[in-house]
Amino acid sequence: MLALLFLMALLLPSRAGAEEIIGGVEAKPHSRPYMAHLKIITYQGLEDSCGGFLITRQFVLTAAHCKGREITVTLGAHNLSKIESTQQSIRVENQIVHPKYSIYSNLHDIMLLKLQNKAELTPVVDVIPLPGPSDIIKPGKMCWAAGWGLTGVNKPTSDTLREVELRIMDKDACKIYRHYDYNFQVCVGSPTMLKSVYMGDSGGPLVCAGVAHGIVSYGREDAKPPAVFTRISSYMLWINKVLKGK
Ligand SMILES: *[C@@H]1O[C@H](CO)[C@@H](O)[C@H](O)[C@H]1NC(C)=O
Repeated sequence: MLALLFLMALLLPSRAGAEEIIGGVEAKPHSRPYMAHLKIITYQGLEDSCGGFLITRQFVLTAAHCKGREITVTLGAHNLSKIESTQQSIRVENQIVHPKYSIYSNLHDIMLLKLQNKAELTPVVDVIPLPGPSDIIKPGKMCWAAGWGLTGVNKPTSDTLREVELRIMDKDACKIYRHYDYNFQVCVGSPTMLKSVYMGDSGGPLVCAGVAHGIVSYGREDAKPPAVFTRISSYMLWINKVLKGK
């Protein structure tokens, strides 16, 4: 039971321990047109938030632990405290969690959201490409994470989108996480840097050379890197199956 509670504290929605951007900067408004903000009503009736990203006009990719009773996706946003004319808010019709997702190990932390209506593609709302099934991101590469999550332990969430550049780490750096699995997860963020994702960033993308390679999954409660991201290339067969409506 204790182990479970500990893991729960490590999951990344904004309420409990979702990842927020630490050590990053405010993104240039609308420079990441695939970014989605998820407003979640949890099964307990509480409000929560996560990140996500648009992969087709009707599907957003996010983390399975962001599932809730109800989700509304906002696209085209920069400052969430403003009613921006670029914003499109769309209800989620179907939350499709990976069939092997486990809340105990947090493995297979990936979920597709089918939107009630197709997003309108504009200069500030667009899709991001995904990797091929064998396109595996290598340790040493530098990638970007973005989100509206907390900017530090005991700090509030950000109303504007923030981004941070992070190094892809060797699998040994994530040995501190008991259930870390290199085949399904990417280990991200140098332990020597005060840069990471944190609560509220969950579900957001890891972008390497314009391709979404990872999904913010979990990290340490004290926000020290590295953090664990879901490895998207390992799920391309499942993603393509769901997109084709099978
Ligand atoms: C976001 O918008 C709100 C409301 O207009 C404003 O008070 C706040 O300063 C803005 N945030 C940033 C970081 O610009």
